[in-house]
Amino acid sequence: MDMVDLVNLRKSVRSFSDKTIEAEKLKSLREFFKSCRHIDDSIKTKTELVEKNSLPNDISSTAGYNGIMIEAPYYVIIFSENKPYFVENAGYMGEDIILKLTEMGIDSCWITLEQDYVFNNTKNDMNVCGLIAVGYGDNTGKKDVFNRIVYENGYKNLESKKLETDNKTRMDLIDIVYFNDYGNKSTMDRILETGIQDGLFAAREAPSALNRQPWRFIIDGEHLVLVIKKDEYTSIYDAKIDAGAVMFNFASVISERLFNVKWTMGSPNKKYNIPEDCVIVGYCGI
Ligand SMILES: Cc1cc2nc3c(=O)[nH]c(=O)nc-3n(C[C@H](O)[C@H](O)[C@H](O)COP(=O)(O)O)c2cc1C
Repeated sequence: MDMVDLVNLRKSVRSFSDKTIEAEKLKSLREFFKSCRHIDDSIKTKTELVEKNSLPNDISSTAGYNGIMIEAPYYVIIFSENKPYFVENAGYMGEDIILKLTEMGIDSCWITLEQDYVFNNTKNDMNVCGLIAVGYGDNTGKKDVFNRIVYENGYKNLESKKLETDNKTRMDLIDIVYFNDYGNKSTMDRILETGIQDGLFAAREAPSALNRQPWRFIIDGEHLVLVIKKDEYTSIYDAKIDAGAVMFNFASVISERLFNVKWTMGSPNKKYNIPEDCVIVGYCGI
């Protein structure tokens, strides 16, 4: 299957059956971990696939939306050295793994981790920075409703907001792709003229915490610049995984179809009128 098909086929599954994964598949998955793609190969990482009962308690107790853990027969855990962009790197690796699982007919879902746990908990020179539920979905098709308690007006006025519920809802490309400066929208025709539209469509299918889709793209001549919009509902940890996943989707599709994409982290030497609630994550040649 090509990367475009895989990106479109992937979806988050949160309800799993007890069915075990075949030994051959487990073996080839563990092999795959050794070759999965990274943003920065100099960051030392380790990836493990563990059965439910072997998931360390300090991980499960800090995982899931509002602390609600996804129960699954297996988990992928990504460990990394704590270096600049190590979480984005984990998001990139994790998405490669998730698309491999998709190709193998195995379901999965990213699980959020507490930010403090990810950034401030180093053991044997490694931090846990990615967690993915893995197994065969039980096809119950449970609704994905995200309720979020909003505290800002004090306990007296606690409010519960319902966020986007449909996993498949995605923003229109013309609302997230800008030309030359942040916010400078254009037409679909102009996006198609760039020739990188397949990569942008694939990017848009990336998973994101609470389906907030924080990614924006600026096409600046020979560069594609990735901007992440900070979000009141998600953490910086989530935003960094979101960034890594979207970078993977774009890079894997364009690298397969057109030319090799290599992301550079940080900002090119230009300001792009980025608003205060946004940050430039990286850029690549197009
Ligand atoms: C960083 C990150 C953290 C996530 N954490 C959770 C989680 O804790 N619980 C959950 O049910 N889904 C989680 N998800 C899955 C998202 O809700 C899902 O990607 C989004 O709703 C879009 O749906 P889709 O993946 O099916 O396209 C997470 C996704 C990402 C990228």
